Order: sequence, then C-alpha cells, then structure tokens
Amino acid sequence: MDKLKPLTDSHGRNITYLRVSITDRCNLRCVYCMPESGVNLLNHDEIISYEDILRFVSVLANHGVNKVRITGGEPLVRRGVVGFIERLSKIEGISDISMTTNGVLLDKFVLGLYDAGLKRINISLDSLREDRFHRITRFGGLQSVFNGIKLAGKIGYNPIKINTVLIKGINDDEIESFVNFAREFDLNLRFIEYMPVGGNITETIMSKEIEEKIRSIFSDFSLIAGSQNNNDNAYENPVSKDFGFKDSNAIIGFISPLSEHFCGDCNRLRLTASGSLRLCLFYDNEYNIREILGERDDEVVFEKVSDIIQLKQYKHNFNEKAKKPGFLSWANNFMNEIGG
Ligand code: GTP
Ligand code: 5AD
Ligand code: SF4
Repeated sequence: MDKLKPLTDSHGRNITYLRVSITDRCNLRCVYCMPESGVNLLNHDEIISYEDILRFVSVLANHGVNKVRITGGEPLVRRGVVGFIERLSKIEGISDISMTTNGVLLDKFVLGLYDAGLKRINISLDSLREDRFHRITRFGGLQSVFNGIKLAGKIGYNPIKINTVLIKGINDDEIESFVNFAREFDLNLRFIEYMPVGGNITETIMSKEIEEKIRSIFSDFSLIAGSQNNNDNAYENPVSKDFGFKDSNAIIGFISPLSEHFCGDCNRLRLTASGSLRLCLFYDNEYNIREILGERDDEVVFEKVSDIIQLKQYKHNFNEKAKKPGFLSWANNFMNEIGG
C-alpha cells in the first residue's frame, strides 16, 4: 500500500518513531527505575497482546512510522518475544527495529533475535564491577551481560549501544573504565543523566562534567559531525551528542535530558505495556489504544490516534514539576511502566 498522510503533531513534527514496552516485568530492580519491593505489576490480561501491538504498528507504518524500539521492563522476560520480533520485522515500512535490554538474558536470545530481524540493540550497563552491579540492580548477572555483549558483536549487531547512568557515590569513579571498555570492544556507550523518576532521587551528574573528565584523560576526544546540536541533520533521532577518538571506532555519547533537553526534535511516541499511548516520557496523560483497536477499519484507528497526537506537548514540563513542594518524580509512573 502507498504511504498515506504522515503522522504530524500540532508543532509540525513528523512522528516516525514508536517505543513499545512489551512488559512491565523485569528480572532486575535498578534503583533509578523500580522500587525494591511493593511493585504493582500488571496482570497478564492487562498486558497488550502481541496481535494488538502488531496491528497498531502496521497502521502507523502506513503513515510514516518507520522505527520501532522494543523496551520493557525487560523485554526478554516476555514469552514469545522472538516470534513477535519476526512478525514485526515483516511489517512493510518498518525499516528499523531495535531493543533496549538489561542484557542478563541476552546470551540466550541474541542469535534467535538476530535471525528474527533485530539488528540493533541497546544494553543498560551501570557498572563493570560485580559488587556494584549487584548494588545498583539489586540482583546480579554481570557476567551474562558481558557474554551477551560479546556474542552480539560476533553475530554482527551494529551498532551495539551501552546505556550507562552514573550515580553519585556509587559508580561515578568508573568513567575511565567505561571509556576503556567501549574502546576495547568498539562500542557506542552513552552516559545518560539520571532522571528523577519514581522517587529514588539523587543528585544528577551532568554530561558536561563527564565530558571534561574524559577529555582530561583522552586529549583527542572530540564531537562527531552530525551529532546532536551540530546543525547537520545526519542523525534522525538526536537524543545523544556523540564523541569519538582518532585511534578507535568507539563512540561515547551523552544523553542530557536535564542539562540540554532535546524536545524540539521529538519524533517519538510510547506505547506502554498496558496498551496506553504516552505522548511524552514526562506527561502522565495516557490514551487507551486497546479500546481504539476495537475499530475494524485501520483508517478509523489512524484518525483517532492522529487526533490524540495533536495533544503532544512541545517539550517536557519537569521544570514546573520540580518546583512543586514535595516533588519526587518527573512522572507518576516508574520507568519500568513507561519503557524509558
Ligand atoms: P536509539 O537512538 O535508537 O539508539 O535509541 P534511544 O537512545 O532513543 O533508546 P534507549 O532506549 O537506549 O534510550 C536511551 C535513554 O534515552 C533512556 O534513558 C531513555 O529514557 C532516554 N530517552 C529516549 N527517548 C527520550 C525522550 O524522548 N525524552 C527523554 N527525556 N529521554 C529519552
Ligand atoms: N534516569 C536515566 N536513565 C534511566 N533509565 C531508566 N530509568 C532511568 C532514569 N531514571 C534508562 C535505563 C535504560 C533506558 C531505557 O533508560 O538505563 O537503559
Ligand atoms: Fe519528547 Fe517528552 Fe522526551 Fe522531550 S521529554 S524529548 S517531549 S518524550
């Protein structure tokens, strides 16, 4: 089918990227993402079915969405994920399927996922030391994450991105080790500013500080042309400002939602594991997509979604939220419910 009218918001932004959380469950409990206990998890019948996700994606693909990222919770804990990716990769118009995972189960799934059509993978990794990995994730499994990363490299995933959140007093002395790790395995490692979500608030280490620390060790550390804020539209989704070295293929990126928000270019929508559409990571309004998928005509589904998209805000509102007394979180939900 020919592409129909593009999905555009009221600020003129083309929506081309959908992040789908396929489960709110996780085999870890990272301190910045989930509470240690008392987690309210969805019942199985509250989770959106693969069928519904696939139909939703194909409706949006007819209107210009070409990039889908699968998130969680931890996506690899949902049963049938490989078959789901295989079906997703057959949807016409979807040219980029990627997944964000904590990597603990990666070594078991990485080959099957590749064969099913997944070619890009982002792995969360906040410490290279077992004791700290355990402290941050409240579980463990660092060795499996390493195995998964190495295997993904051998199989041919490209790029392999590592997401690292520095936490003051816990892992902020590992910057150099992380850079060396990226250089050793030719990885694209992004430092993400700690976002106050869910209540475990700590002082955020800003990207600039990390960048300066790295430059004090690697004098050839410099911005890559085409990266965010470099006025060259080579990157379609510029959440990250990327740096490189003269003698290595590694890329070190900075995702700076606090110090340098990138909302103006936002081309993203989020579908939560309960089947709700979220227009922004930090606006709590959600819209029930399962109900809309009750419409049999795809174009009626599209029109209803398109009406919702007109409500997408220009930028996040955390500055106003942070001023309110008793402020604890940018969002009412924990990250495992939203998918990051
Ligand atoms: P690619 O660019 O396709 O590799 O994906 P990504 O970097 O958007 O995805 P990933 O799931 O690895 O997210 C990396 C970090 O960026 C996470 O901490 C996300 O929460 C954050 N992030 C992604 N999109 C947004 C966004 O729209 N707003 C904010 N504030 N953070 C985002
Ligand atoms: N601040 C910054 N990054 C976060 N992530 C999850 N919660 C937070 C937070 N509060 C990251 C994870 C994962 C990605 C989807 O989002 O590390 O890599
Ligand atoms: Fe888009 Fe909201 Fe993220 Fe800003 S915070 S980039 S508007 S999703």
